[in-house]
Amino acid sequence: MQPLIINHEICNQDGICAEVCPRKLIDFSTKTPTPVAGIETQCIRCGHCMAVCPTAAISMAGIKPDDCEPIDKKLRATTAQLTHILKSRRSIRVYQDRPVERETIENILDVCRFAPTGSNAQQVDWIITDDQVKIRTLSQMTIDWMKQAIETNDSISKNVPLAGIVEGWQKGEDRLFRSAPLVLITHAPEISSMPRENCVIAMTYFDLVAFSLGIGTCWIGLFMLAVAHHPPIWQFLEIPDDHRVFGTMVAGYPKYKYQRIPARHDAKAVWL
Ligand SMILES: Cc1cc2nc3c(=O)[nH]c(=O)nc-3n(C[C@H](O)[C@H](O)[C@H](O)COP(=O)(O)O)c2cc1C
Repeated sequence: MQPLIINHEICNQDGICAEVCPRKLIDFSTKTPTPVAGIETQCIRCGHCMAVCPTAAISMAGIKPDDCEPIDKKLRATTAQLTHILKSRRSIRVYQDRPVERETIENILDVCRFAPTGSNAQQVDWIITDDQVKIRTLSQMTIDWMKQAIETNDSISKNVPLAGIVEGWQKGEDRLFRSAPLVLITHAPEISSMPRENCVIAMTYFDLVAFSLGIGTCWIGLFMLAVAHHPPIWQFLEIPDDHRVFGTMVAGYPKYKYQRIPARHDAKAVWL
């Protein structure tokens, strides 16, 4: 199917669509924008041509410009607002004993769909659980893997303080998922366009939108290590064989409010 339909009656022939197309799939040499041969297979359906057109002359993959949400300049965050959000979000490790409504999570995921992905592949799959029995099962499997890694003197146990987490677990303290009400995992086909980056960016969107709703999150790298090394976890999650887990987070309503922004290193940057 031809992905682009250009309405030449309203096209103002400014050529912007041709200029912004990432793959240069719109020919403007005749001053009339025309999809190039082979566009069907090469177009990544990013929608830029349609989104940028000042006269709404382009429909993409059956979606008309009027079907798309307009950009509302009034809703644009100021630099001060955005800077404050980015600096003041924290990794939350102590949660209220209160579930997060599924509808709220689904609304956040609806925003995460708009995170950039390599070649606009949009191949980020989420596994989400608020089932405390399942979260406990995942924790127990992770602890089993940690114990094995300690016993076999695995190199991971030399670099990561696994013993403290296992000891904490034995005392009833959850240093893995932090007794959070919700665990989120992203996975994607291992052989695809930038799967790790896609998952990490989508989860970073999740983190920020959740924060704006008063929901805290924390990345759980320790679980990502476990899932990569311990097949029973993989099987429990029913992740397809050709996928890999690229992100894990917990989420919930924070028990405490943070009062100030902790210091961080100066940016390490050189101009080349
Ligand atoms: C990839 C990644 C993995 C992380 N894994 C864990 C983890 O397993 N457990 C944990 O408590 N925090 C984890 N964190 C949170 C970091 O410790 C935290 O981001 C850092 O201390 C800075 O604190 P802030 O996020 O509040 O600025 C992780 C963070 C990232 C980015």
